[in-house]
Amino acid sequence: MAFAASQIVRGFSSSAVRNLVIKNVTIIGGGQMGAGIAQVAASTGHSVTLVDTSDDILKKSIKLIEGSLKRVAKKKFSDKPEAGEEFIKKIVQKVSTSTDAESAVQGSDLVVEAIVENLKIKQDLFSRLDKLAPSHTIFASNTSSLSICDIASSTNRQDRFGGLHFFNPVAMMKLVEVIGTPATSQDTLDSLLDFSKVLGKTPVSCKDTSGFIVNRLLVPCMMEAIRLYERGDASKEDIDIGMKLGAGYPMGPFELADYVGLDIVKAVIEAFKTKDPKNPLFDSSDLLNKLVAEGKLGIKTGEGFYKHK
Ligand code: CAA
Repeated sequence: MAFAASQIVRGFSSSAVRNLVIKNVTIIGGGQMGAGIAQVAASTGHSVTLVDTSDDILKKSIKLIEGSLKRVAKKKFSDKPEAGEEFIKKIVQKVSTSTDAESAVQGSDLVVEAIVENLKIKQDLFSRLDKLAPSHTIFASNTSSLSICDIASSTNRQDRFGGLHFFNPVAMMKLVEVIGTPATSQDTLDSLLDFSKVLGKTPVSCKDTSGFIVNRLLVPCMMEAIRLYERGDASKEDIDIGMKLGAGYPMGPFELADYVGLDIVKAVIEAFKTKDPKNPLFDSSDLLNKLVAEGKLGIKTGEGFYKHK
């Protein structure tokens, strides 16, 4: 835990957003990413409301957070298990849950959306929230592949709208991509950069371009690996070993695809293709499409390119 929310120090400015100390954060979407973002925000002293469509999903989200915190606590308090338990309890207490997004955003300084990669659903959500959130509230999307400008177009706060893209597992990955559209104000970008630092992450800035920095490079690499395997040029195991031992990747492209979720990889490459149909790097893969159609989405369903226990 590098910083606490109360430690944000900002310069003087006439703008309401510029002076904003982000304390209350609403995360919409309690999947792997939303739960991870909730965990790091709560761990750094923020009050977090995690929103999803049912109590059952939210119970699973809290379980995900507890599971990840147990791993953090095991390392941090290796010789003091009781202190570890207390650490987990305190952080989980900072996360409240809700199935009512409209009410949840009313006391929020920042709303981070981490729901399904579907432009219309994201636009509908933000359009509804825009009417109820306070005027100072910043909206951010954790989209992996869609245009922030397109999502923000459904609101009347395009100056207070940006991208805040985290990486899986959020507790471990140090990077956050902060995305500004031509309409995003500098004050909003500064607030998002500051917030990322308060979370203990390193922010990088990128324009609102397909895949931003990391996915624009990483996902075509995964697709090239799949095509190499589909052509029979190398086994998936050897491709993974190759990229780990030859390029220093912590996971090979097939391991990483299973970790991220094959549905996500497919959605990302399809979104790239929509924006740039002639680019062969964005071609689909029959094998990837088949696995997704069979519900073999990777670790989360027990099977993807590999079988998982
Ligand atoms: N929460 C908390 N702690 C965790 C954790 C989690 N989810 N995952 C790992 N750790 C910590 C634990 O202390 C763990 O020890 P235990 O197993 O005893 O609990 C320790 O890290 C080691 O973990 P692992 O043995 O599982 O393996 P590892 O050393 O390889 O580390 C990893 C795991 C950090 C995930 C590493 O493999 C890695 O960096 N992989 C690449 C991940 C990556 O590229 N992510 C980006 C994906 S792209 C994306 O997310 C963007 C998008 O939009 C699609």
